[in-house]
Amino acid sequence: MPEHLTIVDHPLIQHKLTIMRRKDTSTKSFRQLLREISQLLAYEITRELEVTTETIETPMQTMEAPVLAGKKLALISILRAGNGLLDGVLELVPAARVGFVGLYRDEETLHPVQYYFKVPDGLEDRLVIAVDPMLATGNSSAAAVDLLKQAGATNIRFLCLLAAPEGVAKMKEAHPDVPIVTAALDERLDERGYIVPGLGDAGDRMFGTK
Ligand code: URA
Repeated sequence: MPEHLTIVDHPLIQHKLTIMRRKDTSTKSFRQLLREISQLLAYEITRELEVTTETIETPMQTMEAPVLAGKKLALISILRAGNGLLDGVLELVPAARVGFVGLYRDEETLHPVQYYFKVPDGLEDRLVIAVDPMLATGNSSAAAVDLLKQAGATNIRFLCLLAAPEGVAKMKEAHPDVPIVTAALDERLDERGYIVPGLGDAGDRMFGTK
């Protein structure tokens, strides 16, 4: 995946995303649509997974058939909204290993601080896909990728639903080796760091909190 930013502008994804953006879309529909879009985005982000062949017997004859090569990929959810993307991706790649990164923003320094980190072993040999629906300032995404690199990951991709230009720029500066796949690139961030036009707070909308 050579491009730093891939926008998957498939009609199904764009239609579902529009419903998610509407402010009167219910929590139930929001969650279901996120799951559906995650699967379509996962299809794109796994497009270049390595394959090898195995000899198998069909009812007709022996053949060399393609199978995924190497270690199972690792999906890393950036808490808490990452879990919404994770569920859909896992449906498509059910054997993937799963990890979690929890970060909060220190209100004085405004820097991300780690409160949880649990990832599969052997990250250095796996394709690692970090998932977070909203790439906004990019600060927590870049910090999460820092932690994954410190844990040994060398082949990382970042999957989100919506990206802001500011977040894409931050990730490109901090991690030019990490391709980003998103359903849309929105206009900008507002003064509170929300993506505009966006869809609001993804975590609140998927979990029904305020
Ligand atoms: N996180 C969200 O959930 N929404 C935004 O718009 C930005 C960050």
